[in-house]
Amino acid sequence: MPNAVIVGSQWGDEGKAKVIDYLTERSDIIIRFQGGANAGHTVIVDGKKFVFHLVPSGLMYPGKVCIVGNGVVFDAEQFLCEVDELNDSGISVKYRLFVSNLAHLVLPYHKAQDNASEASMGKGKIGTTGRGIGPAYADKANRCGIRAGDLVDWDIFVSKFKQMFATKKQLVEKFYNTEFALNETEILDTYKKIRERMLPFIIDTATYLYTATQNKKGLLFEGAQGTFLDIDHGTYPFVTSSNTISGSACSGCGVGPTVIDHVIGITKTYTTRVGNGPFPTELNDAIGEQLRKDGGEFGATTGRPRRCGWFDSVMIRKAIQLNGITRLALTKLDVFNNLDEIKICTHYEINGKKTDQYPSTLHELEKAVPIYESLDGWKSDISGCKKMSDLPSKALAYYNRLLKLCYDVPALILSVGPDRTQTIEITPLD
Ligand code: GDP
Ligand code: IMO
Ligand code: MG
Repeated sequence: MPNAVIVGSQWGDEGKAKVIDYLTERSDIIIRFQGGANAGHTVIVDGKKFVFHLVPSGLMYPGKVCIVGNGVVFDAEQFLCEVDELNDSGISVKYRLFVSNLAHLVLPYHKAQDNASEASMGKGKIGTTGRGIGPAYADKANRCGIRAGDLVDWDIFVSKFKQMFATKKQLVEKFYNTEFALNETEILDTYKKIRERMLPFIIDTATYLYTATQNKKGLLFEGAQGTFLDIDHGTYPFVTSSNTISGSACSGCGVGPTVIDHVIGITKTYTTRVGNGPFPTELNDAIGEQLRKDGGEFGATTGRPRRCGWFDSVMIRKAIQLNGITRLALTKLDVFNNLDEIKICTHYEINGKKTDQYPSTLHELEKAVPIYESLDGWKSDISGCKKMSDLPSKALAYYNRLLKLCYDVPALILSVGPDRTQTIEITPLD
């Protein structure tokens, strides 16, 4: 299969992991390139569910290699929990799961800082996952981060850790004026054991990937979060702290752009968001409630109810522009099975002016009033459909209209249920 980057086109939780798992059969190596354990990626195979936070979503396929790239902020404790869970289920990770020596570590003090910062912001808080993501990326940019490779030499790790621990203690206690309930000796004891277990996983992944591309291996780059949580192009400041768009795959893995053949935008056929920030098509009514219930829209990382709303084609057009999306993978169409009427946002009205383009500032987005088109629901269960011709004509009409509004980018996949088998293939990658 050609090398492809997988990105979320919305605010995350589009069903990226389901599609990655599905495509893994035809790839050799699956690489996470940004984010951290804020991600919650759900894969369901034969009724068994796994939620990955750091381990790439291709791991369920025997024999495939999975890599955590340098662009990820890496929580070793969480990673090892996932490794244990996989081993307990009889899925071996030996010799096929690697972590970049350049990935920055998320340490307990980052989570303490994340929570103290959120608490200090009161109503204006971001609504983070509390996984220490922002502080870990800030330390990286501030050049005081500690990397996975620093674990190799224990004395180096201890010296860097002690210095940062003291700094963070000051910050949380003196600046945020809150309790810093962490014990340096306990953390170091824990990390001594973590180090022993981590050493076989830590390698120079950029060199590994260069050799792999020379040997014509198929690469699948796994994005986390979604386009509108991107630190530059998303709904700043209500975003995560990394670049989530496709361009980030190169810096986050150490490969050049010429390696990438396709960009696949995973796109839910409605919209959801977790955390705070503007959401033009949000439904604060019984229909929003029904989408949440029928779509199981509760955060895979924090369990928070996801905010739900209609499909917003203005957003997706922007996502296509920002990521260079060559195929859309549409998910969760089955969630509409019980609705009489389905709406699609075609344009926004901002300050009395109709526009088909997504605004570049939060200020304008906050004023955007969605303009809708209405389509009939199909009122039947499509979750068993195996090919496009099995779909009721009203479901097909919604699908066709949605693609038309999205620059007619071809669809790779239509997903009609959470299981690997509930996937209809449409336009293959060439
Ligand atoms: P990710 O973060 O983008 O990988 O998505 P999440 O795993 O956080 O959330 C997607 C949820 O939708 C998971 O519970 C999936 O099992 C589920 N899912 C994925 N595709 C479909 C689909 O086509 N239909 C339904 N009903 N559920 C789906
Ligand atoms: P996946 O990969 C949905 C959101 C948080 C919050 C904002 C910042 O499963 O799609 P952070 O902890 O990153 O500092 O929080 O980003 N967020 C996500 N929302 N899916 C995710 O990941 C998310 N990761 C972060 O809710 O609004
Ligand atoms: Mg998720």
